[in-house]
Amino acid sequence: PSQMFQFKLVLLGEAAVGKSSLVLRFVKGHYYEHQESTIGAAFLTQSVTVDNAIVKFEIWDTAGQERYHSLAPMYYRGAQASIIVYDITNPESFERAKTWVRELQRQASPNIVIALAGNKADLENQRKVEYEEGAKYADENGLIFLETSAKSSQNVTDVFSEVARKLPKS
Ligand code: GTP
Ligand code: MG
Repeated sequence: PSQMFQFKLVLLGEAAVGKSSLVLRFVKGHYYEHQESTIGAAFLTQSVTVDNAIVKFEIWDTAGQERYHSLAPMYYRGAQASIIVYDITNPESFERAKTWVRELQRQASPNIVIALAGNKADLENQRKVEYEEGAKYADENGLIFLETSAKSSQNVTDVFSEVARKLPKS
């Protein structure tokens, strides 16, 4: 790779959708059945190589519990990228994800790259949000869309790589 780029990325989404699990899978390759709920936010870094460039992510994994909502702007302000996560078994978390998209579209950097991740894709037999619903909403709002599983690793690196690919490198 010829060049290195650094970007700030924030994870947002309702509590227990699997934000921390996705980040831990991506950064450390680990998965915990009993991942603890995040307090405030956690900071991790990881790099991916795309299009002959190294993209280093400075990742803010925010807390999804509503009482932490007012802290979110501290983390998404100045972020060049965001992954908004919902749980495919929880329709309410999909609605919460849409609210995060609208908040970012109003308050975050105008050029922020947003990915929507429908997580817990391994729980197909408990699915309540269809793939097409997520894909259609993402398409209408210019978002990257993938269904992921922190448990099985499905699409975990891919969602970060797709974000990296879409970020400006100049
Ligand atoms: P907050 O920090 O409270 O906002 O939650 P979070 O979004 O970080 O969720 P967390 O990663 O703590 O995961 C919540 C629970 O869901 C944990 O028990 C995880 O093991 C489980 N979980 C996370 N990702 C997956 C997944 O892809 N599949 C399944 N089956 N369970 C998952
Ligand atoms: Mg967490």
